[in-house]
Amino acid sequence: MRPMNKLVRLMRSSVLAGIFSAVLPFASVFAQGTEEPSLPHINWSFEGPFGTYDLAAAQRGFQIYKDICANCHSMNYLHYRDLSGIGLNEDQIKAIAASVEVPGGVNDSGQPITRPGRPADTFKAPFPNEQAARAANNGAYPPDQSILVLARKGGADYIYAILTGYSEPPAGMKLQPGMSYNKYFPGHQIAMPQPLQDGSVQYADGTKPTLEQEAKDVVTFLAWAAEPEMVQRKQTGVRVVLFLLMLTGLTYALKRRVWADVH
Ligand code: HEC
Repeated sequence: MRPMNKLVRLMRSSVLAGIFSAVLPFASVFAQGTEEPSLPHINWSFEGPFGTYDLAAAQRGFQIYKDICANCHSMNYLHYRDLSGIGLNEDQIKAIAASVEVPGGVNDSGQPITRPGRPADTFKAPFPNEQAARAANNGAYPPDQSILVLARKGGADYIYAILTGYSEPPAGMKLQPGMSYNKYFPGHQIAMPQPLQDGSVQYADGTKPTLEQEAKDVVTFLAWAAEPEMVQRKQTGVRVVLFLLMLTGLTYALKRRVWADVH
């Protein structure tokens, strides 16, 4: 290639780059109109390298899940006995499991029967299959909540935002029948009617059940459910880092000693 050619190419590409960087900021201004609103950030107890689950909040959150969300959303990966992880004792877990009826095989005449749930059972799903779930929910499928916090961009903040993001639609927006307006749901039309409001439950521990409190509690429970071993993992991480720091110090001291007499 002749040097002149090279120079022309170089100039061409730098002009292109110049145009690009001049136009880009405008492009993002135009894009802003359609962007999703930024999520409100909550200071979760389980954030950061030393974060742990607020177990009282997780227990209140389980109450919300059981009394409200479980009417539509399954949680297929959880067993009743897993609830020991949020501090429920054996008797409480047995009672919670026994409060549902699950398929119990067949009787002597071959008819299917049910039995009370046991701690080793998985959480009972509200619908026998996806079609039944959709039929009861305006055609939409309530997603399984076992790992919803991990499966959605924005995680805990997103779920909190959905639960507190209901309002009247802005003037001029027409909702499809049976849909609700939600500021944070992609497209803003959601098939889930607002599940929580002030006073949706009574808390045994005296906590005031405001909408924000209920949302925070149920999200804490869902975050725990998605990653029950998180606290242990973080603690191991901290120990590993401390160990490595110590090892670095020791190795350095050793190196100084070994080389002390070498000039
Ligand atoms: C009456 C049934 C019903 C109840 C009760 C209900 N949901 Fe839903 N939920 C749905 C349906 C249906 C969808 C799917 C909405 C859609 O796709 O438009 C949904 C979607 C969601 C989403 C959005 C997930 C996504 O895809 O981004 C979240 C978060 C959620 N539900 C959390 C909850 C929580 C937490 C509770 C309990 C406080 C709850 N839901 C109670 C029916 C319900």
